[in-house]
Amino acid sequence: MTDSGKPIAPIGVFDSGFGGLSVLRSLRERLPQYDYLYLGDNARAPYGTRSFETVHRFTLQCVRYLFDHGCPLVILACNTASAKALRNIQQNWLPVSDDPTRRVLGVIRPTAEAVAQTRTNGHIGVFATPGTIASGSYDIEIHHLRPDFKVSGHACPMWVPLVEEGYADSPGADFFVREGVDALMAIDPEIDTVLLACTHYPLLYDKIRAALPGHIRLVPQGQIVADSLADYLHRHPEMETRLTHGASVQFLTTDRAERFDQTAALFMGHKVEATRVEC
Ligand code: DGL
Repeated sequence: MTDSGKPIAPIGVFDSGFGGLSVLRSLRERLPQYDYLYLGDNARAPYGTRSFETVHRFTLQCVRYLFDHGCPLVILACNTASAKALRNIQQNWLPVSDDPTRRVLGVIRPTAEAVAQTRTNGHIGVFATPGTIASGSYDIEIHHLRPDFKVSGHACPMWVPLVEEGYADSPGADFFVREGVDALMAIDPEIDTVLLACTHYPLLYDKIRAALPGHIRLVPQGQIVADSLADYLHRHPEMETRLTHGASVQFLTTDRAERFDQTAALFMGHKVEATRVEC
């Protein structure tokens, strides 16, 4: 409840696990006035190697949970869920749901728009989960805006488990980051811009930065998604006025809360106390 007795209407932020926290952090920096409800489906992460149907089913369950707990707007702060579930939820489920005025937004379109406007030689590299790469979503979205760009993607199936299991700072992470960087640069040595198209990857940022040639621009998504949401809320006052402005944040996880709290503190830079829920 808000001070005026109105039920809280937070922005829902969803990810398979911890990765969406990198987006939540940027959202809270850019738009601190809103209430946020974060849900990490840690019990079923990673999503990146799962089928289209499974990712869609899990994502829809989590979106429904966030809607049922007062969020009029949910951000899929997960590229895999955005690639495999967003369109279906927006086009087929939402219009026939009990409140079709609620909204679900993803992270791929805003990231593609930002890349299309960036200063680059047109050779774009994309690091993402196997699911996101197989979906071809980044090629499609970027080529839609810039048919002249060459988009080269490389799937990094080990990067999310390294982050989820707390090995982002280990020598093992150095090995897998080096392997991914070498594979991407072998596809197109002219790449000058690399997208971290998985919200878990900012936790490996320093290692990826160090492994990439120095002239390459490395683009994480948090800031891009936050700017895009600010613009969306500016263009949609009917949604903006539905959201409550209590500057609060609550964390939910489908797995053990203590485990969530430890890793989440690394992403957020402050202490976190999550509640365990079933979706
Ligand atoms: N953080 C998610 C993304 O942006 C993926 C993590 C996973 O594989 O579950 O794609």
